[in-house]
Amino acid sequence: MVVAVVKYASISVATVVGLYAVLLGLLTTSTFQSHVVYLHAIQMTWFKDLNVPETFGFMRNQVTPFWIQTADGEKLHAWHILPVELYRHNEPALTSEPAGLILDFTSRLAFRLLRDDPEARLVLHFHGAGGTVASGYRVPNYRAVSAGHPGKIHVLTFDYRGFGRSSGKPSEQGLVNDALAVVDWVMNVAGIPASRIVVFAQSMGTAVSVAVSNHLAQQSPPVVFAGTVLVAPFADVASLVATYRVAGTIPILSPVACFPWLFKALQHFITDKWPSKDRLAHYVQTNEQNKQDYRLTIIHAKDDYDIPWTHTPVLFWHAVNASMPMGVSQEELEQKKAEERRDLGAAGTSMEWKTEYGVIREEILETGLHDVIMGFPIITMAVMRFFEAADPTFRC
Ligand SMILES: *[C@@H]1O[C@H](CO)[C@@H](O)[C@H](O)[C@H]1NC(C)=O
Repeated sequence: MVVAVVKYASISVATVVGLYAVLLGLLTTSTFQSHVVYLHAIQMTWFKDLNVPETFGFMRNQVTPFWIQTADGEKLHAWHILPVELYRHNEPALTSEPAGLILDFTSRLAFRLLRDDPEARLVLHFHGAGGTVASGYRVPNYRAVSAGHPGKIHVLTFDYRGFGRSSGKPSEQGLVNDALAVVDWVMNVAGIPASRIVVFAQSMGTAVSVAVSNHLAQQSPPVVFAGTVLVAPFADVASLVATYRVAGTIPILSPVACFPWLFKALQHFITDKWPSKDRLAHYVQTNEQNKQDYRLTIIHAKDDYDIPWTHTPVLFWHAVNASMPMGVSQEELEQKKAEERRDLGAAGTSMEWKTEYGVIREEILETGLHDVIMGFPIITMAVMRFFEAADPTFRC
């Protein structure tokens, strides 16, 4: 009897260990990895048509769905979103146009309202893993980013390749190409200069935006946006998988992370590494060397169960460290934070690091989870702060 129990117990332990080994094996394959990292198969907007934005709560023709082509032949499904006051002032003309996907967006009033207003601002939006432009808290997020000046701040958001209605399959280089195509459309078709653009990115989108901002900062002449707001970012994929919990509860790889040799071996198989902390450092260092103004805010909630908030101090440190010729150790910076950061009570803390050219802010909220935070007024504040810093005449 006891023997039988021990026997069955050991069979089930063996089964669990075996299944776990199979899972680890699967994780070394790039197709499985790409589904785990990008979650692009999970739409979350099933049974709704992304070409009918009204079903997600927008007004008729407030959103214009259109295509952006990438240099390597993919078609990205993009949304241009008019800010609400601008929409209100043009309501009769906008509502009388036909609704839905448009093949030539440049023929539309919404496009002219963006291109022909020298005061128009644009938030270039990079959404996170899973879902589409219309999923979850992304819709209230679009309102939050333009709430500071609802007559002027347009939003451009898009689905990466393999997401929503966009063609192709996701990969690190592919998503970077997508972002470059969108930047090209914004600057060369819509004619918006970098000084009137703020980048907003959340979760996986932060890795894409950092890669692209770093790439553009290296061009001559460099292209640097008025500011970048990163919400719930991660330092790189290796440290993300070590801390990631499915549905906020099941840590898939934490057990492996307890065995450094095994974890190192697995890391070897990670195809898309998204080294954001190194790219962010390189971006900061390049701008310092070019004597180029740059502005960065990193925001994270302490109750984020998907990506632990501790990724943000790591990124903040890498950015600050790169802003100084001699660098700073993480301990020294934490010491400085303890002295200088603003304690906002239940709202959290805020730390600003300034150099002659750069502003790097870290904002840690007590609450906001991984997604809900995107609709918060702190997002509106971060966007407006940078538009105003880039041009002090820009106020509501
Ligand atoms: C910090 O900056 C110094 C000086 O630029 C550099 O040598 C060092 O590698 C940086 N540390 C990290 C962790 O990036």
